[in-house]
Amino acid sequence: MAAAAVYLPRVIAPAVARRSSIAPALIAAPCRSSIGTPSAHCLAGNLCRFSSTAPSPPPVVEIDGRSYSTDTWFNTPTNVLAAASRRLHLQEDHPIAITRQIIESRFPSAEFRSVNSLHPVVTTFQNFDSLGFPPDHPGRARSDTYYVNKDTLLRTHTSAHELETFRANASPGFLLSADVYRRDEVDRTHYPVFHQMEGARVWDRRTQADEKGDLTATILRDLAALPEHGVAVEDPNPPFHDGTNPRQVPQHAASEVEAMGRHLKRSLELMVVEVFSRAKKAKQLAVAAVGTEAETVAADEPLRMRWVEAFFPFTSPSWELEVLYEGDWLEVLGCGITKQPILDAAGVPSQMAWAFGIGLDRIAMLLFKITDIRLFWSTDERFLSQFRGVSADLDKLRLFVPFSKYPACYKDVSFWLDGGDGVAGTVHNNDVMEVIRSVAGDTVEDVQLTDTFTHPKTGRQSLCYRINYRSLEKTLTNAVTNRLHSDVKDMLVRRLGVEIR
Ligand code: DAH
Repeated sequence: MAAAAVYLPRVIAPAVARRSSIAPALIAAPCRSSIGTPSAHCLAGNLCRFSSTAPSPPPVVEIDGRSYSTDTWFNTPTNVLAAASRRLHLQEDHPIAITRQIIESRFPSAEFRSVNSLHPVVTTFQNFDSLGFPPDHPGRARSDTYYVNKDTLLRTHTSAHELETFRANASPGFLLSADVYRRDEVDRTHYPVFHQMEGARVWDRRTQADEKGDLTATILRDLAALPEHGVAVEDPNPPFHDGTNPRQVPQHAASEVEAMGRHLKRSLELMVVEVFSRAKKAKQLAVAAVGTEAETVAADEPLRMRWVEAFFPFTSPSWELEVLYEGDWLEVLGCGITKQPILDAAGVPSQMAWAFGIGLDRIAMLLFKITDIRLFWSTDERFLSQFRGVSADLDKLRLFVPFSKYPACYKDVSFWLDGGDGVAGTVHNNDVMEVIRSVAGDTVEDVQLTDTFTHPKTGRQSLCYRINYRSLEKTLTNAVTNRLHSDVKDMLVRRLGVEIR
């Protein structure tokens, strides 16, 4: 999964044993355009066949009520464009919105302003440059990110709005929730659209520092005002260290970084304790109703959290918070002390800040025990009705009760990468995923690369993918699945230029 090295992982997976795939991100030979020189698309990390044979993009696209002109960088499918106006994080009684509300409830609203309606289309400057991502950062590749045109994309994270929100300088803190977009695998924990919350808290030297210009005393006073949570937290890390997690010199004094790190960690621990206590209560209620003795014991397990060091281009020092969940350490959020050049560029050089980012979908999946991320996009009453009234009264939160599981239908597709013309082709795993999703939509539960093969004599390379067709809403007939699978094969040929075996 290419995205793992780029961002905080968004998969519900143990922090240590991440899912390994036999799929390298870019499969097979280096990309060549038809005249034999590398094309711009190839240099941008995409595959030449896909780019050259895909239907030409519409000159103008409408995204959530605004029009944008496209160019050869455009790579956003219709289903993703359509999702941009859904705003699940603002839909009353939707699990994503409920999760947002629970997190917001732990930050004092007088200090933390909510910013929840920002448009999903941003510039490459907002998404990457303003945060210090280097020009060759893999997150910028067309294989990983949905572009509208060369300079415009669907935000890949809520951090894209940090600079403008610091610049607005409307409150000491903010909580910013939004839909975010990434090209990725197809399975029960990945969807091309998901949701994040960005949070930050600033202090200002002009009004809050001591006579030497130091903020430590003020931050420590604010720390003392935070409640205790009484949960044991493992934190073996020094407040910062020169090796891989340095403080920013000369701007930040050691005592300021230490105090701010403590304020940041306590604030986020309080929030995570709130979320997981609610998850535990919902689980206990469900177990009390129908559970076994073993489940009762498991539901009573005490919460455990730990801090680990991390790296993000826009914070230093940086950390991740992990929670022990059903025997595995899960990464819950990333955070750190905001890089001073971001605040300088925002026109508030006298401020110092901490920031964090958290994925709402993965938290909602844990809170409600929802095991398939596609459900969030369902308009089926059997799903939506289960959360009615919870936005107005968070104590009404209950685990999701799956309404039925329809049969899985596995089908394989194998293809030669060279398309039969002898010109070695390349295929990005994310492009295969997207072609399949663009044909079969939410009836695909999971796609796995199951085999790669190089012909011993001809050197031709082939891939085999296993697609699991399973609707969330009904049993698929054989005729329907066969038709979908045949359409998927046709589209793989048309869009990727491969030859079906
Ligand atoms: N933007 C990061 C991601 O998508 C998450 C993140 C990490 C946000 C650290 C932050 C931060 O504000 O300080 O993975």
